[in-house]
Amino acid sequence: MVAPDSTPSRPVADPSPTGAVPVPAQAAGWVRIGDLRVPRVGFGTMRLTGPDIWGPPADPAAARATVRRAVELGVRVLDTAWYYGPDTANAVVREALSPYPDDLVLVSKLGGARGPDRSWTAACRPEQLRAGAEKDLAQLGVDAVDVAHLRWLGEHAPADVRFEDAVEAMVALREDGLVRRIGLSSVTLSQLEAAQAITDIVTVSNPYNLLDRHDEAVLRRCAAEGIAYLPFFPLGAGSMGVPAPLSALAERRGVAVGQIALAWLLAHSPAVVVIPGTSQVAHLEQNVAAASVQLSPDEMALLDSLATPGDETGA
Ligand SMILES: NC(=O)c1ccc[n+]([C@@H]2O[C@H](COP(=O)([O-])OP(=O)(O)OC[C@H]3O[C@@H](n4cnc5c(N)ncnc54)[C@H](OP(=O)(O)O)[C@@H]3O)[C@@H](O)[C@H]2O)c1
Repeated sequence: MVAPDSTPSRPVADPSPTGAVPVPAQAAGWVRIGDLRVPRVGFGTMRLTGPDIWGPPADPAAARATVRRAVELGVRVLDTAWYYGPDTANAVVREALSPYPDDLVLVSKLGGARGPDRSWTAACRPEQLRAGAEKDLAQLGVDAVDVAHLRWLGEHAPADVRFEDAVEAMVALREDGLVRRIGLSSVTLSQLEAAQAITDIVTVSNPYNLLDRHDEAVLRRCAAEGIAYLPFFPLGAGSMGVPAPLSALAERRGVAVGQIALAWLLAHSPAVVVIPGTSQVAHLEQNVAAASVQLSPDEMALLDSLATPGDETGA
């Protein structure tokens, strides 16, 4: 059950004709993830851990409160991974939300892992993908994960593991009921095509934001084919540069720079579901409120022009 917005001073969608209380995360509309329909503002759990995405959060109660508030505000896509922490973000999600709302969509990642030195490593052999899926189920306390991304860490993958073999292993996980739908993360256009030749792909999650549009070609393909696109680092991982026209626009509009960045993503492509990550309720509320920031054609043109030359090629 979606709780009503309790802070009417924040911008929210116009009340519906039926007089229903507007739900902030729904203000930017909905998108399909395969057979599911979800509000376009989601949440990423990677910041619900300690520093370097390692160990428990400094304030576990605040971390739980943040993810609970996301759901109260209508967020229904939670992007998570067993290796955030590792074993931490999933636990926070479960402690905060279980039993889960029926319409919550848990999106996990398989194919990554962490070394004891906190490095990010590949775990993309079929048996490693299966072990990761089993961790997700145990940590999240679910029978199956709604969507599992094959997170391709190609530069770390052993030479004998082919991308196509990893996709086949994901299909086996779906056939065995551990995951319900398959997405891809950190893939090229040709890898997306190769995966689509094997099975139905419902999501892609690649790095992309207002100032880094190297993945434009994949985003366009996703929009054309009805695949939801979940850009990661939508706020530049918290360290996005702020060109003067961007800060001036945010000031003129009386909103945060990050809200402009999220609103631009939502307006730029109907395939986008934003999954900003934060460990703070105030930041979460600000990010969700970005769903209500409407950008005029002139403002979009200004923001469009901020891309680094060449980014739009998707090269
Ligand atoms: N598929 C993949 O391989 C992959 C890779 C990376 C990330 N992801 C997913 O994508 C999600 C988003 O990426 P991300 O969390 O790394 O980066 P992000 O959303 O671009 O930025 C998060 C950073 O911005 C800060 N922040 C968030 N909201 C803010 C606000 N309103 N005001 C000021 N600072 C704010 C956060 O700090 P505070 O905590 O202090 O707010 C955090 O440091 C992740 O959570 C994860 O679920 C997926």
